[in-house]
Amino acid sequence: MLWAASLCILWASFTLGVPVNRERQKLLLISFDGFRWDYDHDVDTPNLDQMAIDGVKAHYVTPPYITVTSPTHFTLLTGRYVENHGVIHNMWFNTTTMEKKPYYQTQFVNEWWDNGTLPIWITAQRQGLKAGSLHFPGTASSYQGQVAMMREVEPIRYNYKNETAWYENTDKVMDWFRDEDLDFVSMYFGEPDGTGHRYGPDSPERREMVKQVDRTVGYIRNSTENYGLTKQLNIIITADHGMTSIYRGAQLEEITLSKIPGFNFQDVSFHLLDYGPSGMLLPKPGKLETIYNALKGAHPHLHVYKKEEMPEHLHFSNNDRILPIILWTDPGYVLNGNLLTVVKKKMRDNRTNNADDLKTTIEATWAS
Ligand SMILES: *[C@@H]1O[C@H](CO)[C@@H](O)[C@H](O)[C@H]1NC(C)=O
Ligand SMILES: *[C@@H]1O[C@H](CO)[C@@H](O)[C@H](O)[C@H]1NC(C)=O
Ligand SMILES: *[C@@H]1O[C@H](CO)[C@@H](O)[C@H](O)[C@H]1NC(C)=O
Ligand SMILES: *[C@@H]1O[C@H](CO)[C@@H](O)[C@H](O)[C@H]1NC(C)=O
Ligand SMILES: *[C@@H]1O[C@H](CO)[C@@H](O)[C@H](O)[C@H]1NC(C)=O
Ligand SMILES: [Zn+2]
Repeated sequence: MLWAASLCILWASFTLGVPVNRERQKLLLISFDGFRWDYDHDVDTPNLDQMAIDGVKAHYVTPPYITVTSPTHFTLLTGRYVENHGVIHNMWFNTTTMEKKPYYQTQFVNEWWDNGTLPIWITAQRQGLKAGSLHFPGTASSYQGQVAMMREVEPIRYNYKNETAWYENTDKVMDWFRDEDLDFVSMYFGEPDGTGHRYGPDSPERREMVKQVDRTVGYIRNSTENYGLTKQLNIIITADHGMTSIYRGAQLEEITLSKIPGFNFQDVSFHLLDYGPSGMLLPKPGKLETIYNALKGAHPHLHVYKKEEMPEHLHFSNNDRILPIILWTDPGYVLNGNLLTVVKKKMRDNRTNNADDLKTTIEATWAS
């Protein structure tokens, strides 16, 4: 879906009488993590606005299920649904050993990413083009033994919100385009996701961060000109998912599985819960129906599916890595395994019960 939107935009740019020039075209794909589709509605964003005037902007983009960072970014890089590319979660896990790796460590688990689908860098390189990637999820891994020709993986505990570093990273990518003659680069910024999680999507801090995003877009477009790339460089700016608000404290809308009658964690062999509004369970042998019957219909805002009964349009079923029971809550609700995990969670400051909050943005300009 995401990919379809970007292809449409490229297609539009080629058919709407955009001047075709002889120089080989280059493409910079930028993701600002968690940039919700409407984040430019309550902040002055002159550079994003100018980009929409010079190019095109979609009203919104609907991300694939499951709307978390690594799966959705790998959809951007491969054009495939999550069930087809196999990066089904931010976390690598092994249901036998119970081991889980967090987001950053999972970047380095090669077999998690290299599961039969090639990201666009490798496809481009196989066709004789040159590709690079800076901080984009999936960059650290190799694919059938190949990596992006130029790449940079951020160090652990990287400060994702440092504006000076954003400008330096932009310079680096422009160097790659000009001096290494790259044809395609994917570039990732970890904001406004971090600030949105910490302070909430409706917070002044998030609005400040959107201004920083906008200044950086201005810097990127200026750099394009300063590096003499205006006639060659096409730019797509998008994001992986949106975000919704959740009240904290007494108003918190939580759904705690351990409180549901008939549900018992002793029937569960392995679970991925406590990572936002969605979760997965592996029942112990013979316990699938028990768990399913206990959870199905137990809460009006909890959706419970057997893997093979997942709504087809979500394309989150046909993959061995997906666990047999899939859960998600309506926007604004938090899914917890048991009460202990609640205190550890950083709650967001508000809520808008709106599925649109998961939608994200895309705009593009083409070389002129
Ligand atoms: C999980 O760990 C077990 C035991 O070490 C191993 O046999 C199995 O191949 C692992 N599975 C995956 C998917 O890594
Ligand atoms: C994808 O990963 C699964 C294990 O999670 C493995 O069984 C399968 O062989 C892998 N497929 C490819 C093409 O790498
Ligand atoms: C921000 O990045 C710049 C340039 O890399 C660096 O010199 C500075 O120390 C960083 N500041 C913080 C607070 O991380
Ligand atoms: C929470 O949302 C309400 C309704 O949209 C809004 O009026 C209020 O300012 C928000 N509060 C914060 C702290 O953002
Ligand atoms: C981009 O260039 C314009 C005109 O030269 C300048 O006014 C603006 O401050 C620059 N923006 C950034 C972020 O460097
Ligand atoms: Zn994200």
